[in-house]
Amino acid sequence: MHSSPTHVAIIMDGNGRWGKKRGFSRSKGHYAGAQAMEKIIDASIELDIKVLTLYAFSSENWSRPKDEVNYLMQLPVRFFKQKLPEFMKRNIKVLISGNTAALPESTKKVFSKTVEATKNNNGIIVNFAFNYGGRDDILQAVHQVIEEVQNKKIALENVNEQVIQQFLYTKELPDPDIVIRTGGEKRVSNFLLWQCSKSQFYFTDVYFPDFTKELLQQAIKVPGTSRNLSNGLPR
Ligand code: FPP
Repeated sequence: MHSSPTHVAIIMDGNGRWGKKRGFSRSKGHYAGAQAMEKIIDASIELDIKVLTLYAFSSENWSRPKDEVNYLMQLPVRFFKQKLPEFMKRNIKVLISGNTAALPESTKKVFSKTVEATKNNNGIIVNFAFNYGGRDDILQAVHQVIEEVQNKKIALENVNEQVIQQFLYTKELPDPDIVIRTGGEKRVSNFLLWQCSKSQFYFTDVYFPDFTKELLQQAIKVPGTSRNLSNGLPR
């Protein structure tokens, strides 16, 4: 039997175009994206994926129209409040990767509450990359490492890749085995730059709201992404 990858990361692109194609607003596309996201979380549990990272708001997304940014900030407030009982029932541990300090109070609060409430769950880890940028991730890690060096907690000559890794937003997680991008664009867009150095990439034209369990299954079937293969072979 094909064994699933440990860590699947998804760039959920194409929500805006999905909405536009149907004569709806871009925000309606994001709402449909959130619904697809729920199904993909369920599918990931069924497929025995251990970690699912979802790119929900990039550090570049602030440049979008104000209404859309507001909508994307409020979406998790509604979603997490509504979903917390289910996260508990399904043993889901929620993590957030990104610069949360810069978020509106209500968004920050719902994130910290959900992370705290689910911290002892030991089922799938769902990691929301929110106000996340790969360069920002590396930069903030470097700042922390410099502080450690200045405070003589670590000697400069001992700063290696493992040390940097310990300060990344994703410090608790293994690197992704596969990065999936929906919506047709074939680029990495500042997502998990450090972490995806050995990841496979899978691109599909399907807009994220139309992404399904079957399409996820198809994506992770690509040779080299299974636990069996990735554990034994150098990549
Ligand atoms: C990119 O599509 C998608 C986003 C900027 C937001 C993704 C968010 C979700 C799927 C929902 C998240 C929900 C919660 C509760 C965290 P795009 O807007 O760039 O689409 P386009 O390329 O067609 O314009």
